[in-house]
Formats: sequence, C-alpha cells, structure tokens
Amino acid sequence: MIGWLNHIAIAVPDLASAAAKYHDLLGAKVSAPQALPEHGVTVVFVDTGNSKVELLEPLGDGSPIAKFLEANPDGGMHHICFEVPDIHAAARRLVSEGARVLGDGLPKTGAHGRPVLFLHPKDFTGTLIELEEVAPEKA
Ligand code: CO
Repeated sequence: MIGWLNHIAIAVPDLASAAAKYHDLLGAKVSAPQALPEHGVTVVFVDTGNSKVELLEPLGDGSPIAKFLEANPDGGMHHICFEVPDIHAAARRLVSEGARVLGDGLPKTGAHGRPVLFLHPKDFTGTLIELEEVAPEKA
C-alpha cells in the first residue's frame, strides 16, 4: 500500500543550530526556514536527493511537537512519512484492520498542502507514521 518514503521529521529545540549541523557537518542541501503557523512549526527541509529530512522547531503556543521536546530535550525523530496514492482508501483499510488514525480519523491538509493522516505509534512499534496522498505520477 505505501509508496516512497516522503520524509523523516526530526523535532529540534534550536532550528538554526540543527540546520547548521546538517549543512556544515554533513554537507547537506538545506532550505531556508519556513514558518507554518497553522501547523505550529517552523521547518527546514534537508534534501537528500531520494527523500527529505524535515527539521521541526515549535512555533507558537500549543505546538504539536512541544510535548515531544519536553520528553526529548535534545530533539529526536518525531515521525516518518510514506506516500500513498489514495488516502481515504488507506484510512478505511487501516481502521478496518484495527489501526488507530489520530484525531477524528479523517485526513487533514498537511504541511505540504496535501491530505495527510497520522497513525498511532503504539500500533506501529513505537513510531508515529504519517501518510501523505501523492498522485503516483507525481511521486
Ligand atoms: Co511530516
């Protein structure tokens, strides 16, 4: 069902310092920071050629990654995102198999403007999984 790995998201307490590490030490191509207030994060994209790493820093009150950073003050892997061709079909299949879709179970518009959903980490060996709908011809 899942397609390409779209991104790995890493929550960080200090975006500038994290971006500098990827750029200066790892020699990676790193984007300018983008504030996404509606998602409660500022993000930097690290382009790995075949995929992306997204460095996420909390933005504003009630950021969805604030609790994670409280528990992991140095930062850490927050979620991984796979592409699916039809997110509603994916949600139906997962729910019918007993997996828990976070929130009200319906896809939302994600940070890339495409429909996404998140699956409960307890159902996936401790890893928060994001599914993002990407039309196969664009994948
Ligand atoms: Co994501």
